[in-house]
Amino acid sequence: MLDSKTIEIIKSTIPALKNCGEDITKVFYRELFTRYPQVQSMFDMEKQKNGKQPKALAAAVLNAAMNIDNLENIRKSVEKIGKIHVELNVTKEHYPLVGECLLIAIKEVLQDAATDEIMEAWEKAYGEIAEFYINIEEKLYKQN
Ligand code: HEM
Repeated sequence: MLDSKTIEIIKSTIPALKNCGEDITKVFYRELFTRYPQVQSMFDMEKQKNGKQPKALAAAVLNAAMNIDNLENIRKSVEKIGKIHVELNVTKEHYPLVGECLLIAIKEVLQDAATDEIMEAWEKAYGEIAEFYINIEEKLYKQN
């Protein structure tokens, strides 16, 4: 569970991040595929081109952030996404890579507005979100 100050900071940054959703997504995938080319083959590059699917990942992170004080609210939707992840062999080792690139994207897009305090809050929040996904996906792997 995150402290109330962190939760407050996250909630205050969501509107700005939502407004820049497309920019964040672009920077995010650029960084992910440049730094970690080994994960690129997991993604459907046709979907990258039409732009619809790629938005889903960043949007889902933002949705999770909106519910950061009660991730149970989004369990159902995370179970659906988790099924897709498990089919694609997403593992817990992948989560830090996505987190790193997401934080870089947030910083690059918000620039000076993304203070150290905001970046630290996002690092913590992503950790919670990732843990929530990983737990659900580990259960799904065990069921298979
Ligand atoms: C908290 C972190 C993450 C969130 C919120 C998230 C969210 C999503 C969402 C919403 C989708 C679309 C599902 C649909 O089609 O309905 C998706 C698909 C996908 N995710 Fe994740 N994801 C996360 C982490 C990861 C990680 C760590 C990886 C591995 C590198 C990954 C790889 C993929 C892939 C390969 C797809 C399929 C998209 C495609 O075919 O292009 N995701 N994810």
